[in-house]
Amino acid sequence: MKVLVIGGAGYIGSHVTRELLDKGHGAVVFDNLSSGLRENLFPEAAFIHGDIMDYQALRRAAAGNFDAVIYLAALKAAGESMIAPEKYSLNNISGAVNVLNAASEGGIKNIVFSSSAAVYGEPEYVPVDEKHPARPANYYGFTKLEIERFLAWYDKLRGIRFVSLRYFNAAGYDLKGRIRGRELNPANLIPIVMEAAAGIRKEVQIFGGDYETPDGTCIRDYIHVSDLARAHALALDYLSGNHGSLTVNLGTGRGVSVLELLEAARRITGKEIPARIVERRPGDPARLTASSELAAALMGFKALHSGIDTIVRTSWEVYQ
Ligand code: UFG
Repeated sequence: MKVLVIGGAGYIGSHVTRELLDKGHGAVVFDNLSSGLRENLFPEAAFIHGDIMDYQALRRAAAGNFDAVIYLAALKAAGESMIAPEKYSLNNISGAVNVLNAASEGGIKNIVFSSSAAVYGEPEYVPVDEKHPARPANYYGFTKLEIERFLAWYDKLRGIRFVSLRYFNAAGYDLKGRIRGRELNPANLIPIVMEAAAGIRKEVQIFGGDYETPDGTCIRDYIHVSDLARAHALALDYLSGNHGSLTVNLGTGRGVSVLELLEAARRITGKEIPARIVERRPGDPARLTASSELAAALMGFKALHSGIDTIVRTSWEVYQ
């Protein structure tokens, strides 16, 4: 397939682009490089430096006879979305309308969308499946859920089929070391732990040690970014089989606590990694794990590289 990868220079987008190229797809990357990096681009994929807020640029890009769009570009800091909702409305909601309109005008009939576990909010049960009520606890999650609803309407009215992938906690780096771009000012646990191990920061702050979990720290479902990337290629296969549209979770079903992650990082890096328990971070559920049975049954998805040791080892290869 010929695929327009919007947000293809970012952390997840670069892994997705690499996977598409490895599978023999054609890829063109469209990215404004606000958080994406030039070093995440590949010579085999043409690059358009453009912004989804620039409708004319997007329209020109989407006119290139693409079979599909993979739409990753978005703001993604849940905490920030609660203090700067306007920014998230513009980039995520208005940006999504531009992407959909450009796809519609360009005659592109397939979209793979980067959604998030954040659409669920505080879980009523774990592992969370796709039938779980979607009640986002932050504005970021709300924007992702709204975009899923736009997608459903463009499916009905314009015949644009979509697969919405609800990512749980993306982590790790390409197993072959081909992607080495580090996020600037990371807010997520694993890059923060890696920065502490590499001496870039003094310590890790553990947000809360009194949760109702076995060791008192929060449990998350970490999925290796290369497993996520493979799911995008599977989503394209699914769409080309004319099965209609689909919304699925992508996780492993296994939970890892903050302390377990720190322990694995100390063992693998051989570094002390100072850590200190501080106040809880507002809006953090104690446990969040995914059931990915639907993705397994309908797309043949399986997490192959999402063991915590592989996640930490491939991250450390980039950060050390
Ligand atoms: N944590 C710390 N210290 C830190 C950073 C994080 O203790 O410095 C803890 C958090 O409290 C949480 C866990 O580590 O318990 C994971 O936190 P992240 O910020 O890495 O990830 P989140 O689970 O909060 O959120 C991530 C993405 C969201 C996405 C969500 C889906 O950032 O965009 O996964 O599960 F919606």
